[in-house]
Amino acid sequence: MKQPGVGVAITGSGSAAPAAALDNHQLGQIVETSDEWIASRTGIRQRRLAAPSETLTTLAAEAAQAAIAMAGLAPTDIDLILLATSTPDDLFGTACRVQAEIGATRAVAFDLTAACSGFVFGLVTAAQYIHTGVYQNIVLIGADVLSRWVDWSDRRTCILFGDGAGAVVLQANDCDRLLGFELRSDGTQNHYLNLNYEPTEKSLVDTVTIGCGTFNPITMNGQEVYRFAVRRVPEVIEKALFRANLTTNDVDWLLLHQANQRILDAVGDRLKIPPEKIVSNLAKYGNTSAASIPLVLDEEVRRGNIQPGETLVASGFGAGLTWGAAVFQWGR
Ligand code: COA
Repeated sequence: MKQPGVGVAITGSGSAAPAAALDNHQLGQIVETSDEWIASRTGIRQRRLAAPSETLTTLAAEAAQAAIAMAGLAPTDIDLILLATSTPDDLFGTACRVQAEIGATRAVAFDLTAACSGFVFGLVTAAQYIHTGVYQNIVLIGADVLSRWVDWSDRRTCILFGDGAGAVVLQANDCDRLLGFELRSDGTQNHYLNLNYEPTEKSLVDTVTIGCGTFNPITMNGQEVYRFAVRRVPEVIEKALFRANLTTNDVDWLLLHQANQRILDAVGDRLKIPPEKIVSNLAKYGNTSAASIPLVLDEEVRRGNIQPGETLVASGFGAGLTWGAAVFQWGR
């Protein structure tokens, strides 16, 4: 239950990206494609890819440290670390490694998986802990290293994805800056975008056989995912705005999951939100999954474009299928 007087403020952001970039021309040496094809269909020009030494943990920790510093806190002030990721360093969870790396000794830490919606789902989850008065200072990280799971011989998917991390700090606040949200899932369409575990039969004894396999690379039906995003994302944004008692005219910045420039443009058109309010950095990073929204948020905050008190709508969508939107004001 929401406790009276316990609001949420988002008080810091941070991000991190691998050092190496692979541009579309270089990608053309790996699969049959071209800069012209990729840029015109997606808006992506390059993606950053993690070297073996750059793990999910190191990227997530760098982003979290920057967010904690911007919020004026120390790692030991943090009560909870939520790590939204689909590409853990350890399937048992990576948030604890981040906790150790940044020295957040008091923090509870766990992973949350909702693919490219992970940041928005995480934001709403984190806010519940604050609204109920349980925690005061939370770091939410969205981080993914999808390059580990991309089929680098499949030109329909490998052109899209990149690696990165972004983080925000949520704090208890007198005034509630989370104004509204809406989350959705539809498992009947799960097959459109997968990173599937494939069991191989292994007989232990006569009567017991287990499925002991590994994960297959990403598979995707691009056209169906495109259709889903362009239909469902505007709906969920309108619903979240309705809950916040706002309209699209009140939106200062639209932070869509950075999947494809054509999706960003189509969603903006449907909502009649002008392009200058729709942030985009996917030309530089591609689709970084759970990292994409906090990464672009952090860039715009550090550039001074997003100002305290402005109204932001973040909307994530992707595998699951999952999608959602959150309306909030930046800062205390
Ligand atoms: N380079 C050159 N040609 C390519 C190519 C590439 N990288 N990928 C596919 N093609 C070819 C196809 O083989 C096909 O050729 P054909 O007509 O001879 O069979 C043609 O281009 C059109 O392919 P299609 O798959 O219909 O392209 P599209 O217009 O749907 O664009 C996507 C493909 C992936 C860019 C687009 O569907 C998309 O962005 N979907 C959303 C994906 C997404 O955002 N996923 C993540 C969500 S979190």
